[in-house]
Amino acid sequence: MFEPSPQSSLQSRKALLDVLDGIDPHRRPLWMMRQAGRYLPEYRELRAKAGSFLSLCYNPQLASEVTLQPLNRFDFDAAILFADILLIPQALGASLSFQAGDGPVLSTVRSSADLAGLSADRVSDLLAPVYDTVARVAALKPEGVALIGFCGAPWTVASYMIEGRSSTRREARLAAILAPSWFQALIDLIVEASIEYLVSQVRAGAEAVQIFDSWAGDLPAHCFERWCIEPVRQIIDGVRAQIPEARVIGFPRAAGTNLLDFAQRVPVNAVAVDAGVSPRVMGRDLAPLCAVQGNIDPLVLLAGGAALDAAVDDLAAAIPKRRHIANLGHGILPETPIAHVDALVARVRLHDGL
Ligand code: CP3
Repeated sequence: MFEPSPQSSLQSRKALLDVLDGIDPHRRPLWMMRQAGRYLPEYRELRAKAGSFLSLCYNPQLASEVTLQPLNRFDFDAAILFADILLIPQALGASLSFQAGDGPVLSTVRSSADLAGLSADRVSDLLAPVYDTVARVAALKPEGVALIGFCGAPWTVASYMIEGRSSTRREARLAAILAPSWFQALIDLIVEASIEYLVSQVRAGAEAVQIFDSWAGDLPAHCFERWCIEPVRQIIDGVRAQIPEARVIGFPRAAGTNLLDFAQRVPVNAVAVDAGVSPRVMGRDLAPLCAVQGNIDPLVLLAGGAALDAAVDDLAAAIPKRRHIANLGHGILPETPIAHVDALVARVRLHDGL
């Protein structure tokens, strides 16, 4: 006969994994994009100690500590690996540095000759410290907390490799439209490296992975299938060829009306959405297809108060907890007060009790 689980084992179930697996969670899972970052004084302190952002990423002891920092403060349901989507270009042979205030600076790829200097051969070796970080976090994280690994989607990673810095991505978008053979080859190379990167993260202990297509919204509609849907699908197929049960969250940010195509055609466990998507659309159109993650505007979290409470209430009313992973629509802003994150957690938990 079926015995209801005692409360303690209910609490130790991972709400985030239950939602990704289509099982009723014991509460609405919650985490925040960029939850380990500059809004936390303890992050700024460790970052200063490490000297640079990249030395923090490649130091498993410090990177695992940073990954766990938000879990020490907040009752979140997931830890996200501390690393960056731009470690892949670096592992492929591009130069990478982060200039204070300016963001990333990379060597550019704009021709077959530029591409010839890159190779996926050393990806495993060069990214081994990241897998070490995953293994450390997997061993140390609190009970009930799921560990999320990640990579950038090929279009977003390619856009940084073409531009060499944060920009309006004019060159990259032109390359997507003209589709020269070197651009297709660059996407293919990123797909290959990303499969290996995600498989290694899952083998090291990541229980789900998120694929960030932060600039999906830059693609004109006729390019969306070829440069967003197709390469992300190839990564997922490649990962699942080796790990059939791998759980994936896709984040085609600002994809607008292409979002529905993405959710229908890419075999994700969940689609993450930005703050431009209404909770009604999340609950009515997306939730029947897969779980939905998001989507409080980072500026609403910065504002706090009634606006934040209303945003949480709208999500809770529109999507059942069985289909929803509460999160922001994009990364938390560095100037966000910690008290507002506490208020976010409290408001999400309030609905669990209703
Ligand atoms: O807490 C987490 O979310 C985990 C770690 C993480 C970082 N970057 C750490 C980081 C994750 C998942 C990312 C993803 C990432 N990186 C994306 C996709 C998500 C998004 O924001 O759209 C992108 C586009 C990048 C590339 C990147 N990394 C840029 C453009 C910048 C500079 C801008 C900025 O926010 O500073 C980074 C730096 C970066 N990545 C920081 C952190 C904590 C700040 C570095 C610092 O300490 O100075």
